[in-house]
Amino acid sequence: MANAEMCLQLAPRHCTACHGFHLSAIMRRATLPIDQRIGDFAEFQAATSQVLAQARSTSNPVRVIIGGTTDTGLYAGLLNAAVTVGGPGFARSLDVTIIDRCQTPLEICNSYARENDLHLTTIRADMAEFQPDAPVGLILMHGVLSFIPLTKRLSFLRHLGAWLTPDGRVISSTQMGHRRGTTEREARVDQALQNLKTVLADSTGMDRTESELLERQLKEGMLARSQHANLFNTEEDAIKFYENADLTVVSFTCIETGKRTIHGLERRYTQRGLAVCSRS
Ligand SMILES: C[S@@+](CC[C@H](N)C(=O)[O-])C[C@H]1O[C@@H](n2cnc3c(N)ncnc32)[C@H](O)[C@@H]1O
Repeated sequence: MANAEMCLQLAPRHCTACHGFHLSAIMRRATLPIDQRIGDFAEFQAATSQVLAQARSTSNPVRVIIGGTTDTGLYAGLLNAAVTVGGPGFARSLDVTIIDRCQTPLEICNSYARENDLHLTTIRADMAEFQPDAPVGLILMHGVLSFIPLTKRLSFLRHLGAWLTPDGRVISSTQMGHRRGTTEREARVDQALQNLKTVLADSTGMDRTESELLERQLKEGMLARSQHANLFNTEEDAIKFYENADLTVVSFTCIETGKRTIHGLERRYTQRGLAVCSRS
């Protein structure tokens, strides 16, 4: 609930680009353990460990960009992955930058880094227009491509791929397969609203009008999210897409997430496609 409490204070001022996404996603996840927040957490972390193990032998420190984040989940997953590869010392040595269009997740991650005495850089920017000041060994993207308009998706990914060192990697996870649980949409909204109400009940200084506005924004965010179009129908489509973005697909794993539920509710898609790519 700590992320949810921070989100309540931050989102009204700092979420200007996401149309309620952070409010809704953070409230939906508020009571979930970190490893259940994303459907392919274990696989994403394992892929990250593999890339870090390789990168560690060629660069020091390993420069990592997390491109787009909901909350602390991806950052914590990255740190866990690094600990499995080289212990806490290696995790602390990573040069991590988190980029997002909204300040809310960045503030939440900054707070997490301060609490754990970690060095973290956060940058509020549109990644399509951002240029890092040095090449990057690893870019982590989870579910970000569906936020990029279809006509701009390829050039967006090409732009990000060009940030990599010659042996750098992008790990990208996207929704795939069939949309599920549309009949449960109301139940998802109710669950997120319930968490919002719990946090609101504990918070001081929020009047009724502000609370109602947050509830409206949460519903809008949940609706916008449920309308994201599926990116790829098949593994071949996905691989072709990455290749067209001047990347080489080092590995591609289609993960069946349909049976992995959140609080008994189905995940929105039956599969996720996990791609590890290098520069072509
Ligand atoms: C689905 S979330 C990714 C989070 C990931 N699934 C997780 O659990 O942390 C997509 C994130 O990308 C951010 N985003 C989308 N387009 C962006 C862009 N062009 N530049 C920077 N951030 C962007 C959104 O604000 C959002 O936080």
